[in-house]
Amino acid sequence: MEFTIKTGTPEELKRACIVVGAYSDGSLTAAAQAVDTATEGALSRVLKQGDLDKKAGSTALLAGLAGLKAERLLLVSLGAPDEVNDKAFRDAMTAVGRTLAKLPGKDASVCIDMSIPGRDAAWCLQQAARILAAAAYKFDAPRKEKSPATGIRKVQFLVAESASAALKTAIAQGQAIASGMALTKDLGNLPANVCNPTYLAETAEKLAKKSKLKTTVLERADMEKLGMGSLLSVAQGADTPPKFIIMEYKGGKAKDAPVVLVGKGITFDTGGISLKPGAGMDEMKYDMCGAATVFGTMKAVLEMDLPINVVGIVPSTENMPSGRATRPGDVVTSMSGQTIEILNTDAEGRLILCDALTYAEKFKPACVIDIATLTGAVIIALGKVPTGLFANDDELAQELTAVGNDTGDRVWQLPIWDDYQDQLKSNFADMANIGGRDAGSITAACFLSRFTKAYKWAHLDIAGTAWVSGDAKGATGRPVPLLAEFLIQRANAA
Ligand code: BES
Ligand code: MN
Ligand code: ZN
Repeated sequence: MEFTIKTGTPEELKRACIVVGAYSDGSLTAAAQAVDTATEGALSRVLKQGDLDKKAGSTALLAGLAGLKAERLLLVSLGAPDEVNDKAFRDAMTAVGRTLAKLPGKDASVCIDMSIPGRDAAWCLQQAARILAAAAYKFDAPRKEKSPATGIRKVQFLVAESASAALKTAIAQGQAIASGMALTKDLGNLPANVCNPTYLAETAEKLAKKSKLKTTVLERADMEKLGMGSLLSVAQGADTPPKFIIMEYKGGKAKDAPVVLVGKGITFDTGGISLKPGAGMDEMKYDMCGAATVFGTMKAVLEMDLPINVVGIVPSTENMPSGRATRPGDVVTSMSGQTIEILNTDAEGRLILCDALTYAEKFKPACVIDIATLTGAVIIALGKVPTGLFANDDELAQELTAVGNDTGDRVWQLPIWDDYQDQLKSNFADMANIGGRDAGSITAACFLSRFTKAYKWAHLDIAGTAWVSGDAKGATGRPVPLLAEFLIQRANAA
């Protein structure tokens, strides 16, 4: 999707569609008011007749209005005027995005002249651009008959104040974030027979063709030399070779400490010898969504050309049962030297992450954030609304929580108190890889915390937020908005 910005109102514009907002009490935004005047009260009549539901995000599509040059007018409800908030705005933009994605015709003008308490025009435009562009995402499924491309491709934002450089930057950021999200969704949605560790490594190499990124891929033999016994214990059951992918983006000063992102890249999780039940197992192709988030965030950072240093690390393998697979009870030595008794081969994410987290030390990071579809238990604890957040540094946790609220890509912190560490006791090694039924997401995070003592660290458990199941099954692109905005704010602060 292509965006432009202009100051003004839409009544004179020749477009496939123009979009204006109305409130549940029947009042109109300034742009909607201008349209109403030009059409001799067409919008007022729609509202009076009750043809626009009062809930924020309801829409009414009106075609061929006399007095307008545009082919269609989309009226979107912003909800009650005294309750307009972030969610109402996002709901409205999501509905607009869905409608525009289905319309015939090429171009639309979207009026952004509503005021959201506590938010400026730049915030509105970044959000709007991201949401509209993300709504246009379609997975290119390999069907015999290709479905024809539909939907509006060109969107012009009409704003009340001047179309400043700051607003243009906000739109470009929203677009870059959506473009990163599209990569994350594609990688997640691809089946595991296509998107395997080698495919992820090739994706990283393709991204590196853009100047400021350097990609390095470590092979099994390299991992053996580094002593990554924990990661390799997961990989040993699979026939596809594991890859350890490192992407270094140098947008900042040479000696600025980088933000390191580590993404779980299990391209398919069968559970290994601790085999998962069959129902719904196809969704374990999404077990690389942490890795996909690292790729998507890198793509967004590249497109924004952010002045910051970022390192992406993706340990990647399948988790398969076989004659060579790790058995429950096997003991392995991690790169850190700590030994692990593998009581359940389905708790494999932490086994690959721990070696990647140890590897991350060499970058002397400003902070490390890992992203992983780590536990089903986080869905029991928090549902599918926020990502689970864990951290060994309260400031970093608060920073991520605030960015989550800014973007709507929210996180909620859970504790990793030492009191939980006892659950990981083993009679046969430094620790077990599972902590029993209680607080499964917390004990998983506690396991990781034993490998992150050298730096400030946060862990994002995205098992509930990375994809949706059911009829609309598909990757969400989360938490790319969170991490991209985190990096924008860090770059602005530097
Ligand atoms: N990839 C899964 C976590 C998962 C499960 C994500 C369902 C999304 C939906 C992870 O590797 C796993 O299997 N975790 C186990 C841990 C348990 C064995 C301690 C789980 O959550 O059941
Ligand atoms: Mn598993
Ligand atoms: Zn897994």
